[in-house]
Amino acid sequence: MLILGIETSCDETAASVVENGRAMRSSVIASQVLVHAEFGGVVPEVASRQHLATVVKVVHQALREANVEAGELDGIAATCGPGLVGPLLVGLELGKSLAYAIAKPMVGVNHLRGHLVAVYLDHPKNPSPPPFPHVALLVSGGHTSIFRVEGQAKTVLLGSTRDDAAGEAFDKVAKLLGLGYPGGIVIDRLAATGNSTAIHFPRALPGREDLDFSFSGLKTAVAMRIGSEGRPQESQLADFCASFQAAVVDVLVRKARRALAREGLCDLVVCGGVAANGGLRLALARSAAEDGFSLYIPTPVLCTDNAAMIALAGTWAIQRGERGALDLSVDPGLPLS
Ligand code: KG4
Ligand code: ZN
Repeated sequence: MLILGIETSCDETAASVVENGRAMRSSVIASQVLVHAEFGGVVPEVASRQHLATVVKVVHQALREANVEAGELDGIAATCGPGLVGPLLVGLELGKSLAYAIAKPMVGVNHLRGHLVAVYLDHPKNPSPPPFPHVALLVSGGHTSIFRVEGQAKTVLLGSTRDDAAGEAFDKVAKLLGLGYPGGIVIDRLAATGNSTAIHFPRALPGREDLDFSFSGLKTAVAMRIGSEGRPQESQLADFCASFQAAVVDVLVRKARRALAREGLCDLVVCGGVAANGGLRLALARSAAEDGFSLYIPTPVLCTDNAAMIALAGTWAIQRGERGALDLSVDPGLPLS
């Protein structure tokens, strides 16, 4: 079974062919990062226009690299939400048109479902596939949530952020530090050589017993410190980044452990762009060894946005008999059911 996935929910134009719900025959990602960097963040209309200019080329490349003709595909999956309306419309409409042209099934895929299944893709650096049920911590630029994942399409939300997402906090702090956009990966790199106990930043644990997050207080604490003391000197930047990162990581790890204990589960999936963070991966691995749970984190290139995860989630949906109608539209706030 050959499924083409198309992902255009934010600032990556991506297409991928996945075979038999595991093997990545191709995965092409055209990033718009450089275009948006000069604005310090994603500009929705610019993103839509970039997708429009790129998506057909990216799909062509994904088919070529997979050595597959469009007519050989068994179906098409395109992200239909959550995300930016304009960018989502571009990818979904192409997916629908292509499916219509080759008379094959088409499904709209929830972007969050894509992140949750990325760890099941066959990649030499992915762990072995996790069993169901498991706990999943999804940490990206737009979301920070904990789920109980019962099966391929059954998910229960256990907690989520009350304000900013973890990735958003990384990007905003990077901006305050003058590190450019998107800054998560830059902070990660600098933090690797810094002292994480140099500065104590607050750890917000709203409702001690629940599984919600809050990162706006941490962002404000960073802004206030920079406001009163100025940006850290070059020589103190690594310590600053390491201290900030430790505050985010600490909270994420604590809540993930709490979720496992509360649900009585011992398998944890961590996914989304922030799951690529070196400090988070290390802290989670330590906790897994201490508590005795199994940890499943996709290889970094499958943590951040890609279309292979959409193709895989789409494969499962098509196998279940789901079909997207020709009037299927996008939903920027699409919840995960
Ligand atoms: O999942 P993703 O690619 O897109 C969304 O669905 O949002 O996540 C992007 C987010 C950005 O905020 C980016 O700064 C963050 O993930 N990110 C990282 C790292 N790589 C990407 N944050 C911390 N450390 C990283 N290595
Ligand atoms: Zn994403």
